Amino acid sequence: MLCGKNVVLGVCGGIAAYKSVEIVSRLKKLDAQVSVIMTQSAQKFVTPLTFRSISHSPVVTDMFDEPVNYDIKHVSLAKKADIIVIAPATANIIGKLANGIADDMLTTTVMATQAKVLIAPAMNVNMYENHIFKENVEKLKKHGFLFMEPDTGMLACGDNAKGRLPEPEMIVNQIVDILTTKADFKSLNVLITAGPTKEAIDPVRYISNHSSGKMGYAIAKAAERRGGSVNLITGPVNINKPENVNVFDVTTAEEMYQKVNELYEKADIIIMAAAVADYKCSSISDKKIKKAQEGLTLKLEKNPDIALSIGKKKGDRVLIGFSAETDNLIDNAKSKLEKKNMDLIIANDVTIDGAGFNSDTNIVTIIEKSGNMINLPIMAKDRVADEILNMALKVIERK
Ligand code: C5P
Repeated sequence: MLCGKNVVLGVCGGIAAYKSVEIVSRLKKLDAQVSVIMTQSAQKFVTPLTFRSISHSPVVTDMFDEPVNYDIKHVSLAKKADIIVIAPATANIIGKLANGIADDMLTTTVMATQAKVLIAPAMNVNMYENHIFKENVEKLKKHGFLFMEPDTGMLACGDNAKGRLPEPEMIVNQIVDILTTKADFKSLNVLITAGPTKEAIDPVRYISNHSSGKMGYAIAKAAERRGGSVNLITGPVNINKPENVNVFDVTTAEEMYQKVNELYEKADIIIMAAAVADYKCSSISDKKIKKAQEGLTLKLEKNPDIALSIGKKKGDRVLIGFSAETDNLIDNAKSKLEKKNMDLIIANDVTIDGAGFNSDTNIVTIIEKSGNMINLPIMAKDRVADEILNMALKVIERK
């Protein structure tokens, strides 16, 4: 699968360094050529011999080693790399890279490369939450460095918290994704709405719905992986933010509406996967509403219909919406597509197991403007995301 691909793996000094051995082993099984660079501290955790034996290649440990073949090692590896992966990446290496410090083989190689760099940090949770560290990560992201979110679990220090290196399988999957996906969204700006909105009733209560945000987030991830420049406007959800995507947090439909209006003009494709609350309270009580014997009547008013308003002024942009239904799936979806001037609508029956709100899978029908319909079988939301993006590209081709 990775035949002909050169992966340079930078290993830093953290207890998770032992897991990098499995990363190399898995990459070799996929036929990648792997060159390992170890920092000085990494060598205290695992020996270069381990990596040499598993990668079948010399391991680079020192800038000033006598070379095996005469070449300027940091430049040759930097040029040869299809991707540089740093796993585990310490706060130290991230700090150095963010500040242009190149004082060892790994930092000089990264600085000299034009390849993609994927960083998988692993550290104590307080270090991970440290503000200076976070600023460094943000700076690197702005410069196009790719990051993997650490896992939560038992850390070496005994804390049960965020900071674990993701499992080698996940890191290798990410590498495969990066190296094998075609960049067919490269010049495209994609705007996505996701998650529910929350409309306050009083300071402690709100109106909302069961949307988990998973479908919209999966689309954002897929568009980013395929090279798109992605803006994701999200209501409150409990899932990790996708890496390398511009995320804008909003709470209410009104806020989502404002943000969409700010960003839609530069978008080529707009995908509205948010479950926007149709109504909000006409007035929000500033005190907690007390229980009354005779029940409670709330006066609601309509929220703006974001998709409808964008549909009216979308110009050449591709507009894609969702239609989550409990009955009359296709008819309801078709009439929304028409009313909101969408190019595609994704219909799903939220009453079926394996489809809809909290599930990791979905069962959808994609309906085109022409009335043409594609029924997809049950599949992971990640794969549904790719199918939707494939269809979006077809709409662009036809325009
Ligand atoms: O709520 P409804 O079923 O009409 O939603 C269909 C589509 O319209 C979805 O794509 C949803 O994101 C969008 N929508 C919106 N603003 C609303 C209601 C729905 O953008 N107020």
